[in-house]
Amino acid sequence: MRENPYIPRKAIIEDLKDETPDTRTFRIKLEKERFVFTPGQFIELTVFGYGEAPFSISGKVGESAFEITVRRIGTVTKALFRKKKGDVVGIRGPLGKGWPLERLYGNDVLIIAGGLGLAPLRSLIQLIIENRRRFGNVTLLYGARSPRDLLYKEELIKWRDMVDVHLTVDKGDESWHGRIGVVTVLFDDIHVDPKNTIALQCGPPIMMHFVSKKLKQLGFPDENIYLSLERLMKCGMGFCGKCTISGTYVCLYGPVFCYSDIRGFIENIPEAGV
Ligand SMILES: Cc1cc2nc3c(=O)[nH]c(=O)nc-3n(C[C@H](O)[C@H](O)[C@H](O)COP(=O)(O)OP(=O)(O)OC[C@H]3O[C@@H](n4cnc5c(N)ncnc54)[C@H](O)[C@@H]3O)c2cc1C
Ligand code: FES
Repeated sequence: MRENPYIPRKAIIEDLKDETPDTRTFRIKLEKERFVFTPGQFIELTVFGYGEAPFSISGKVGESAFEITVRRIGTVTKALFRKKKGDVVGIRGPLGKGWPLERLYGNDVLIIAGGLGLAPLRSLIQLIIENRRRFGNVTLLYGARSPRDLLYKEELIKWRDMVDVHLTVDKGDESWHGRIGVVTVLFDDIHVDPKNTIALQCGPPIMMHFVSKKLKQLGFPDENIYLSLERLMKCGMGFCGKCTISGTYVCLYGPVFCYSDIRGFIENIPEAGV
């Protein structure tokens, strides 16, 4: 008999790592099964007794474990932050549509992330590094509010061997000698060939609005631009309608969309309140 997709599977928190004062990466392992996903997909995580919330899969660990990176914000995330190694949570998924891997193979890849938006792109960067020869030039532009808000600080250094990494922060401190400003300032530091580059972005709606504008100015065809729209969601399976933007179910047809499919309602993104 087919499993009920509404019923979460039991999983164990194997490890925890603080990334910033309010953000933590959780390594989660399914009790018995393998966990197969495409970077850009998400899971629905249940903290029993508190509720369920969607989180991007931020990393792959072996065959049956994966990572999520969570910001403490409300009921479910606060309850999750009280959990310790060995505690049990519920998992549904992987859900949604991930990054378009077939379009990336053989092309240059430009990744643009703001804040927590790096989470669904980190699992993609891991995949690129594992299969580096299958991709052309790979560039990461990443912006955070301040140096201490940068996620995956040690990995950002290691990735430089394989990926052209550019960082910026809105507000520096005495330790910061890099770029200051919003993520679009980093476009001044790079050269890309828009016809042979696929651009992937995830971040606050206002960032994606201005990054899309910049990519269009640089001559990127709509078909070469992808965005992850992390809308508020409930069921994650196309039943409740909570995630719709202009009638499109983000949970079913996204969260990753090609710009050419959503340009009709892209103008609404800054007000989307995601
Ligand atoms: C596809 C998808 C992927 C996501 N990936 C991640 C991820 O990798 N890491 C992560 O930390 N979060 C991610 N989120 C957001 C995460 O689901 C919410 O932060 C979470 O649902 C909050 O639950 P809560 O019960 O702790 O907060 P609640 O108690 O439900 O809400 C507390 C406050 O936060 C606001 N809020 C709730 N959800 C969001 C949201 N999505 N964005 C902004 N404000 C919100 C509410 O309006 C409320 O004001 C993702 C969301 C989606 C749809
Ligand atoms: S979250 Fe329920 S329809 Fe998309």
